[in-house]
This record gives sequence, structure tokens and C-alpha cells, in this order.
Amino acid sequence: MHGYTFDFPAAVFDSMNPAFPVPLKSVIQPPPMVEEVLGADERAALKSRIKALMKQQDAVLVAHYYTSADLQDLAEETGGCVSDSLEMARFGHAHPAKTLIVAGVKFMGETAKILNPEKRVLMPDLKADCSLDLACPADEFAAFCDAHPDRLSVVYANTSAAVKARADWVVTSGIAVKIVKYLHSQGHKLLWAPDRHLGDYVQRVSGADMLLWQGSCVVHEAFKAEALKKLHAEHPAAAVLVHPESPAAVIALADVVGSTTQLIEAVKNLPNPEFIVATDNGIFHKMRAAAPGKLLLEAPTAGEGATCQSCAHCPWMAMNGLRNLAAVLESAETGTPGANEILIEESIRAKALMSIQRMLDFAAAEKAGQILLGD
Ligand code: 13P
Ligand code: SF4
Repeated sequence: MHGYTFDFPAAVFDSMNPAFPVPLKSVIQPPPMVEEVLGADERAALKSRIKALMKQQDAVLVAHYYTSADLQDLAEETGGCVSDSLEMARFGHAHPAKTLIVAGVKFMGETAKILNPEKRVLMPDLKADCSLDLACPADEFAAFCDAHPDRLSVVYANTSAAVKARADWVVTSGIAVKIVKYLHSQGHKLLWAPDRHLGDYVQRVSGADMLLWQGSCVVHEAFKAEALKKLHAEHPAAAVLVHPESPAAVIALADVVGSTTQLIEAVKNLPNPEFIVATDNGIFHKMRAAAPGKLLLEAPTAGEGATCQSCAHCPWMAMNGLRNLAAVLESAETGTPGANEILIEESIRAKALMSIQRMLDFAAAEKAGQILLGD
């Protein structure tokens, strides 16, 4: 950890790191977990109603892997996509539909709107937030940047439009290491916000000089290294897959560290018959489809020192369902335009676009082999 003196704002997580000797306790209280439960008849009726409304309104559904199996299936049945946050942004931008429905959390809807101001962007529930976004208020982030004018600011996509507007670069977990390695190779020193675990991981892998904001994800923060070791001992043939929002002690036990898409690819491509997965269990829907014969185990969130508030499932992601998706499309139909629509002030949108566009341009250049990072 670096010897910097920025006063972390009150609304961030405390840390187990001895440099921040305070109990590990989030001040961001997640909402209660309320998952939609549907009978077969209601599910079928809702899906056919939503499909008809989507057609009428020229809409496409973009869903994150952590949303319900019903929403993921619906997205695929209607020509939309189920993906990680980077691909959600790319897909929504490339698709010609006039309306994008984003089933995920608020920053994903905002990213869609930032990239597509001419499109209507709807979400099933606008209260679907993210503990990382909530832990990084724009004014406090701006003070962090002001205190370190010699550093480029790199923010995780899990932030508000206003934070992105202030940042130099946006990254997702799928591309964070590559972008930070690149910036480091260009001689830049960095500020990172808001996820301290992802920031710490990226810093270790890239060797970059980074100052870290102290936010964390309520879901990934809860994975427990000691309990994971025990589970692995019971399943020695299992590969351990870890999302980098998890604590360093959990990441240290991983065979693969990566974004949600990268973890699904690992289940598909690795020869192991079993996997222990440290990320939101919504991802199991796609993992089961990718590798039907393999045993998938949730990484433990219980055990000594357990503080599990969300138990491997994001309560904000769970706010998305077929009922509220149908209601949003119906309200637009019955003359209540603007219901659950993402709107962003133009001056903020235009600035946030620059930092997101840098990431998308970098991703395209890297894919085209125009950026060589070495190891
Ligand atoms: P991905 O970019 O890997 O989909 O992660 C988004 C997220 O919110 C993970 O908690
Ligand atoms: Fe945010 Fe964590 Fe939920 Fe992802 S899983 S949306 S990082 S709270």
C-alpha cells in the first residue's frame, strides 16, 4: 500500500488491511434479497406479453449473467445478449434497436445511455444499484482527483455517470489489467476507484503505481479463503475460478482470475470435471449450459469471521424480473413515457463518453493486434 494521505470519505468500506485498522464492516447496507418466484403459467404468459411489447417498441434485451435464468433465457430467445459488463456495452451500442432494455444494475443502464443518447434505455427497476457505485460519490471522487493532479484516474465501470465524467479512463474487469499495463508502460501513475480488491489485484499484476479507493462489492467481499481451502481439499480435482472483486486471500487460491465471461470460458475449456466458483451464483445458469456434465460448486461465504450479507447473490441484480420488465414496457405502451427510463444530463454524458470510448477503442485496437503489452 502506498503512503498517501488522502482522507477517505465516510461512505466507503473499512478494510482488513493493517494500514486501515478498522473492523471489516460495510457502511453500504444492501437491500433485502427479494427474488421473483414464478409458476410455469405466469412465466409463459409474461414472456409472451414481453416479446410482443418488445417487437412493437423495437426493443432488445441486454442482460447480465447475474440476473435470473428467466431474463437470461428471454434475452437469448429475443435476439439480445447475456454477457459481462464490457460486452453489454459493446452489444447495445452495435445493435440497431431503438430501445435498449438493460437487465442488470444502474451503471450498466447508464453506460448504455452514455453510448447511445439517441436510444431509449429502460431498466426493470431503477433502484438496482451496486455497492461499488454507492461507495464512490462523485464529489468525493473529484476531491480524490484534485488531491493528486499528477495521476491519471482509472475507474471501474461500476460507477456513476458523474464519476465516469470526471475520470480519464473507464475499465471493466475483463480489460482492467491490459489497460493498466498499457498506461504503466507509458509512464503514468494512477488513481483507481472504487473497488479496492480489484485495484489491489491489478496493481500486483501490472506493477503500476496506483492509489486505491476503498470501496468493495458486498457479494465478492464475503468469500472466505480458509473455507475455500477446506472445500478444495474435499474436491482436489476442482479448478478454482475467482472474480477479481474478491479479497486477495481468495484470489491467491485461484486457478483462473477473470471477468464473468472469462470464468464461463474457463468452465468450458479447462479439462477439470469440477469447479469451485467465487462469484455471484447467477452465473451458474450459463456455466451449466456451457459444460453440462461438470460439477459446479459455490465458493464458501460462511466460516470463521463470516459477514455474509448477500451470500453469493447480488440483491440489486435480483431486483430485475419478468414482472417489472413487463410493467415497464406496458407503461410505455399506455402513454406513460419515461417510466424507468435512464436519462443523463448532456454535459455529464458527453464527458463520460470520452472515458468509456477510450476503453472501447483500446479493446478494439488490442483485438486487432495493434497493442503489444508483453507479459
Ligand atoms: P463483469 O464485468 O465481470 O461482468 O462484472 C460486473 C460486476 O458487477 C461483477 O460484480
Ligand atoms: Fe455491484 Fe457486487 Fe452487485 Fe456486481 S455483484 S453489481 S459489483 S454489488
